[in-house]
Amino acid sequence: MAQPTFSTHSGMVDILPDETPKWQKLEQIIHQVARDFNFEEIRTPIMEQTELIARGVGELTDIVSKEMFAFERGDDHYVLRPECTAPVVRAFVEHHLDQRGGTQNLYYIGPMFRAERPQKGRQRQFHQFGAEIIGADDPIADVDMIAFMMTIYDRVGITNTTLKINSVGDPESRKAYKKALKDYFRPKLSELSEISQQRFETNPMRILDSKEEEDQQFLGDAPVITNFLTEETAGHYAKVKEHLDNLGIAYKEDPHLVRGLDYYTRTAFELISPDLGAQDALGGGGRYDLLVEEVGGQPTPAVGFAAGMERLLIACEELDIELAEPKSVDIYIVTIGDNARSWALKHFSQLRKAGISATMDYIGRSVKAQMKDADRENAKYSIIVGDNELQEEKFTLRNMKESEEQSLSFDAILAKLGT
Ligand code: HAM
Repeated sequence: MAQPTFSTHSGMVDILPDETPKWQKLEQIIHQVARDFNFEEIRTPIMEQTELIARGVGELTDIVSKEMFAFERGDDHYVLRPECTAPVVRAFVEHHLDQRGGTQNLYYIGPMFRAERPQKGRQRQFHQFGAEIIGADDPIADVDMIAFMMTIYDRVGITNTTLKINSVGDPESRKAYKKALKDYFRPKLSELSEISQQRFETNPMRILDSKEEEDQQFLGDAPVITNFLTEETAGHYAKVKEHLDNLGIAYKEDPHLVRGLDYYTRTAFELISPDLGAQDALGGGGRYDLLVEEVGGQPTPAVGFAAGMERLLIACEELDIELAEPKSVDIYIVTIGDNARSWALKHFSQLRKAGISATMDYIGRSVKAQMKDADRENAKYSIIVGDNELQEEKFTLRNMKESEEQSLSFDAILAKLGT
């Protein structure tokens, strides 16, 4: 085959028609779970002001410092959104959503953009579903957020997962912890990887997240944040665990779980799958009690999660979970001659109104080729329409699987196949 003139950018992927049914099915499950949890959908633009993302996610994070798709137009600085929490919080503040009363229980589905090195489970344009509860401080909200995330995997049929949780503390706990971490790593600094040496100054907690080989020997004995939590934060974390226990949601405490975004306070969690390989995080989230204020709103506690849809679908493949049925159409109208073609076009609307999906040949193929096409389309039924059938107003309805035929009027076909 000739080399195509154009192709997608590296790490940006076409979702082709053979794959869209499973995406649609997954989206359907997400919408249904959101309804069950009483969450409302929010849709924000793909582009945001650079400053919002830099401030929200954190200047020193990999996402902001290395992975942004950023550009300028006149005086405006834009980025393709790398995540949706900062945009949702921006929308919450901009549109005074707090005035609707209660907590804002919001969810979203859509593409995100990070200029990472592409590999399996890691793309530059990828899709997330996520949810946020803005305005609740109670550990109940943290746990219902985790339950929301887990319910989606449960309904899809992915149950072989590990939920990791941690508390990353509030600013006060973190100040004491960062000092202890620096005291611990300082004597080992020259032996740490280059990236960890940089993080020692900028964000020592991220050293714990290091995948570099030379760092591993030092991570096990590093001080853990849970020993530095203030009483209030420790109490919040204890309640989160208690509610998880009560719900029977299994979890593993991981005091090194820090997450790659700077806005987290207190609860942090991640859902890991052994079926994913190197990029094993299905989803993650936590509390971000300071973010609303950071982007210009009133102090408002909040908690949420987001999960990668490509990774969920990779896990489905590994586990042989068929999310969607193979494509099919209810009826294929095989036409002989121009009158029949006009008749089919005219009668489509009645079929489709009755909930019967219908198609025909658009390019004037022979009857034999049309029957073959009906098979390729996985049609449940076909009818052959020619001048004789039109005159007699009787059509042969063929059940394609069972190879049974029945002679019926068009109204009888409607009645038989309609919902
Ligand atoms: P995150 O951990 O950066 O959190 O992303 C959530 C999930 O998105 C990851 O666990 C992964 O499944 C997927 N993901 C991230 N980057 C990629 C990529 N390059 N390719 C494919 N999938 C990817 C957030 O984005 C936070 N906004 C979550 C949150 C919501 N926290 C509070 N509320």
